[in-house]
Amino acid sequence: MTALLTLEGVRAGYGEAEVLGGISLELEAGRSLALLGRNGTGKTTLINTIVGATDLMGGKLVFDGQDMTRLPGYRRAAAGIGWVPQERNIFASLTVEENLTSVSRPPRGGAGTGWDLQRVYRTFPRLAERKANMGNQLSGGEQQMLAMGRALMLNPRLLLLDEPLEGLAPIIVEELMAIIGRLIADEGMAVILVEQSAQLILPFTDDAIILERGLVVHQAPSAELANDEKTIVEYLGVG
Ligand SMILES: Nc1ncnc2c1ncn2[C@@H]1O[C@H](COP(=O)(O)OP(=O)(O)OP(=O)(O)O)[C@@H](O)[C@H]1O
Ligand SMILES: [Mg+2]
Repeated sequence: MTALLTLEGVRAGYGEAEVLGGISLELEAGRSLALLGRNGTGKTTLINTIVGATDLMGGKLVFDGQDMTRLPGYRRAAAGIGWVPQERNIFASLTVEENLTSVSRPPRGGAGTGWDLQRVYRTFPRLAERKANMGNQLSGGEQQMLAMGRALMLNPRLLLLDEPLEGLAPIIVEELMAIIGRLIADEGMAVILVEQSAQLILPFTDDAIILERGLVVHQAPSAELANDEKTIVEYLGVG
């Protein structure tokens, strides 16, 4: 099977400083990947390089058979790469509903087949309750739901979630993780989920990679890594 996303020797960084030292990976359509690693190991740099927010210094990026290496971010989004950035980037002075409709794209399979406003509201009832509120009036959890809803409105084939659970109260983490789990299981969408806690996301994902100093230092099925305490302690520091 041809991969939906292929990275070959991807190098990226900031100015003179190279952060990603050559990353190769493949993700098939509908599969989910846990992207793990401690603080500052390059997880966000990798996500941002895939969406085109950080420039490649070398290597190649292919999505859905198309070489995206030199395409700008908006072309990658149009091709079906959805992104929930680590900072969420909610439009503070737009309402919840305006945030959602500002970037929508019709579903690929025609009307009624994918994500629209009503479906986002059914998935995140809190957003429906808050639809007239401004972006800057939302709690952290609501902002995260809005960032996810906004990415889903693009009807992506690949969804990149950069530490969506960071800084949220345990009860919201549980609620969001259940929703993310359903997206992974039911939608046929490929997902890359960034987290620092392996235990939290390994039960929901197919495969996992661990980054250390901008390199993939471990790659395994999630179910296997979940039982590999030695590797988890070595690279993530917690059992
Ligand atoms: N805009 C930037 N300019 C210069 N250096 C940066 C920039 N963003 C990140 N870095 C550096 O790149 C390295 C990787 O950072 P990155 O944000 O990709 O890590 P991360 O794994 O996402 O960390 P975290 O878990 O804290 O989000 C770090 O050394 C960081 O200081
Ligand atoms: Mg990060």
